[in-house]
Amino acid sequence: MARVVIASPLEPELVERLRAVDDRLEVVFEPDLLPPPRYPCDHAGDPAFTRTPAQEERFTQLVSEAEVLFGFPREEPEQIAWAVRIAPKLRFVQATFAGAGQQLAAAGLTREEVERIAWASSAGVHATPLAEWSLLGILALTKGLPALQRDKAARRWREHWPVGELRGQTLLVVGLGEIGREVARLGEAFGMRVEGVSRREGDLDRLLPHADAIVIALPLTAETRGLFDRTRLASMRPGAILVNVGRGAVLDEQALVEALRSGHLTGAALDAFTEEPLPADSALWELDNVIISPHTAALSVHENERIVELFADNLRRYLAGEELRSRIRTDLFY
Ligand SMILES: NC(=O)c1ccc[n+]([C@@H]2O[C@H](COP(=O)([O-])OP(=O)(O)OC[C@H]3O[C@@H](n4cnc5c(N)ncnc54)[C@H](OP(=O)(O)O)[C@@H]3O)[C@@H](O)[C@H]2O)c1
Repeated sequence: MARVVIASPLEPELVERLRAVDDRLEVVFEPDLLPPPRYPCDHAGDPAFTRTPAQEERFTQLVSEAEVLFGFPREEPEQIAWAVRIAPKLRFVQATFAGAGQQLAAAGLTREEVERIAWASSAGVHATPLAEWSLLGILALTKGLPALQRDKAARRWREHWPVGELRGQTLLVVGLGEIGREVARLGEAFGMRVEGVSRREGDLDRLLPHADAIVIALPLTAETRGLFDRTRLASMRPGAILVNVGRGAVLDEQALVEALRSGHLTGAALDAFTEEPLPADSALWELDNVIISPHTAALSVHENERIVELFADNLRRYLAGEELRSRIRTDLFY
């Protein structure tokens, strides 16, 4: 029997789905030991939650005997390091969030500890909501939604005000994972000319100056941090629209503010920021041509269901000795 310990809050009916995957799995779920979720699909749970000494002992015992773990406890790097060190039989960890590679990199594990375990993120689960949100950003800025809202507030009727069209425009998708590929699919459906860049293909510096809209769907790694620096932002086509649904620190926010203020870029739609929550004094709040979403564009009522679907498939693969889906690369941590 492979012991699977649920270390992140989850709906009991979804735990039942995991129990039905295979008789060789013993799925352990003791919700009293986990921080209660504050809202649907809250994977970290209430930070105010504490275990009694007896509960702490029980949780430690369960984790120490785990072969498979669902969720990084509290989504914290220190907690994942703790789990790895007390659980000698641990072989597979399924994280509940897509950027789990970052937390794994920050856990301070030795190479041997990292390699002993197969790590999977939830990459892919958020492709639909984030791709839809990316198109929302491109459409809103192409059609001048901020100005329409201003006019509406002022009860102003413009006599003549042509707006742009997506058809025939060039869309550059940076990061061609699950999210990026779905963005590309939607862009094509709108008649856009779609270009893409991943680690293995595409030349960002050649494509960037020719794109009317750019969607960034990159993980944060040592290579992507600051990738959209002042020089690259300056090389973007005048009037371009920038969307970021990956991680905030891939772009230089100060340089972006300047490019938006000067009118070099038409606008930006951002779901991720270098510092979150976005500080109250950030200039991004003041800019009319910026759409801000508080890192919530991926949230969907279907999120846990999709994560459990992925995990169930990964459990089958694990038992069959097959490659896991959304496996985290342990050389680059994404
Ligand atoms: N806003 C949110 O709430 C939210 C939710 C989910 C995910 N995210 C973020 O979005 C990221 C992408 O998610 P995903 O599910 O699409 O991940 P994914 O399937 O792992 O895809 C990542 C893509 O990024 C590319 N990439 C990695 N390093 C690169 C580099 N240096 N230059 C160019 N491309 C590079 C990869 O290239 P290869 O194909 O060549 O490997 C791959 O195409 C996640 O890592 C996470 O940080 C944000």
